[in-house]
Amino acid sequence: MRDHERELQRAFDAQAAAFEHAPVQSDPAALERLVAFADLPAAARILDAGCGPGLVSAAFLRAGYRILGVDLSDEMIQRARARCAAFGDRAWFERQSLFDPLPEDGFDAAVSRYVIHHVTDPLAFLRRQVELVRPGGVVVASDHTTDPDPARARWHYQIECWRDRTHTRCLTAGALTDLFAAAGLLDIRLTEERFALDFDEWFDRGSPTRPKADVRARLLSGPGARGFLPQELADGHVRIASWRALVRGVKSV
Ligand SMILES: C[S@@+](CC[C@H](N)C(=O)[O-])C[C@H]1O[C@@H](n2cnc3c(N)ncnc32)[C@H](O)[C@@H]1O
Repeated sequence: MRDHERELQRAFDAQAAAFEHAPVQSDPAALERLVAFADLPAAARILDAGCGPGLVSAAFLRAGYRILGVDLSDEMIQRARARCAAFGDRAWFERQSLFDPLPEDGFDAAVSRYVIHHVTDPLAFLRRQVELVRPGGVVVASDHTTDPDPARARWHYQIECWRDRTHTRCLTAGALTDLFAAAGLLDIRLTEERFALDFDEWFDRGSPTRPKADVRARLLSGPGARGFLPQELADGHVRIASWRALVRGVKSV
């Protein structure tokens, strides 16, 4: 396993319990929108790349699909297995990297949510999924996004890295779309959604490199970014208005 993957495994083993209950990750309406956006054929076989605790897998399973989920973290895979046990042999989970050999290929689709901002080479991450889906298969990614202005994007990126040692980048919605094109995907669709983070909840389940007070101060003194706009509320809480992109592309036949 590569060094960064080891770091990810440690970080997500530690935060699995908090992650699976986090309001943004577990929001049922957002999960249903992701399933609808993927627009997959009935009973499709889906690879969930970086499946975490199986929240995304469970949403696709409820819609009648079949899932193989892979994740670096044991704690995440155990939770995914428990969460999706009721779906029987339609659900299978393996603790491994996406880049390790898989027990099967020729998937109808590959899906990843909130993984691209953690990987060292996002194009390789997408190309691996393209390799694993059949011709005509679909690749879907959802991730939070940043500002096209470089100074605002740098500020946002610094805060993300202070709060999470495994954060590697913030992409704009456009850059995410370009990645799909660079991976050879066609008929690309993009949509954006807004969501809100509570600073305390978000920070407390992270793997920080700086004290919470420093991160809060930097957050409130910065320029704000498209996709990451903090607001201090009257009760002292900080709410971050955030945007995520959902991107879908098709592998050529
Ligand atoms: C932020 S979590 C997202 C979990 C899930 N996709 C969700 O949205 O609920 C990111 C997950 O990606 C996993 N991950 C990152 N790189 C990976 C790789 N190369 N192979 C497998 N899993 C990976 C991490 O272990 C972590 O559990």
